[in-house]
Amino acid sequence: MKQRIRDLAGKKNAILLAHNYQPPEIQDIADLCGDSLELSIQAAKTTADIIVFCGVHFMAETAAILCPDKTVLLPDPEAGCPMADMVEPVALTARKNALGNIPVVTYVNSSAAVKAVSDICCTSANVIDVINALDADQVLMTPDRNLARYAAGHTDKTIHLWDGYCPFHNNLTREDVADARQKHPGALFMAHPECPPDVLAVADTIQSTSGMIRYAKNSPHREFIIGTEVGLLHPISKANPDKQFFPASSKMLCNDMKKITLEKIRHSLETLTGKVTVPEHIRKNALGSVQKMIDRV
Ligand code: 13P
Ligand code: SF4
Repeated sequence: MKQRIRDLAGKKNAILLAHNYQPPEIQDIADLCGDSLELSIQAAKTTADIIVFCGVHFMAETAAILCPDKTVLLPDPEAGCPMADMVEPVALTARKNALGNIPVVTYVNSSAAVKAVSDICCTSANVIDVINALDADQVLMTPDRNLARYAAGHTDKTIHLWDGYCPFHNNLTREDVADARQKHPGALFMAHPECPPDVLAVADTIQSTSGMIRYAKNSPHREFIIGTEVGLLHPISKANPDKQFFPASSKMLCNDMKKITLEKIRHSLETLTGKVTVPEHIRKNALGSVQKMIDRV
């Protein structure tokens, strides 16, 4: 199956991009694995005709926003993101207006329609840079309230929150972390900024998914507790074969990220089904927000 997929990708000039939470067998055949920022940058610069996005819908949509002339495939069109569904454009615009038209910073975990009514996008890897670079004292951040609170601790600006969250990161508790620390004394605890503030308060470091992989590489520590979706255990262990990684909680499993399978990738590539497109009037406006973020890298 893996060989069949690689052959099809070669024949059709397709690139396979996989998020760090994807099942191991998918990460192992992808052309590039990474966090949301790295995958967006790669999508923007690829010369392939087809982008097979092994991730969730908003990621494939971001690729379609950046590359309107390419075919973007999401091997399971049902792979969504519950947090992205927690904000929609009409309510967001109403809130922005009620706050005096202040800039809206939107996490890439959002629909194209939401990006289209936003001023700039961010990911977990660049949120602080993006907010600090804005020429405004107040910003509205959507949809992740935890990411917004994290950013608020690293800026002088006033951050207005939207009440969205990732159900899996938001469920991680201080007790889970304390239990993991008890089992692995001496291990460093890394947390994703989608975790709640009381969990971030006890983290040794707060990183995006690829940030965690780099941090482990550069750290003299040998054991780490991972406060993000359990899929990260694969790439972080692969990149650091001499170190040990333990999940902060086995409850942190994103069902949508696991909807992509090798069989679905093969089918999608063979039949070109699962195309993700964005209506042009939305795409043009969403591109402004995404491109502003990418231009800052
Ligand atoms: P990053 O890989 O950008 O840190 O994002 C985490 C995430 O939840 C993606 O859905
Ligand atoms: Fe969305 Fe959370 Fe899954 Fe990431 S891990 S795709 S934020 S539900």
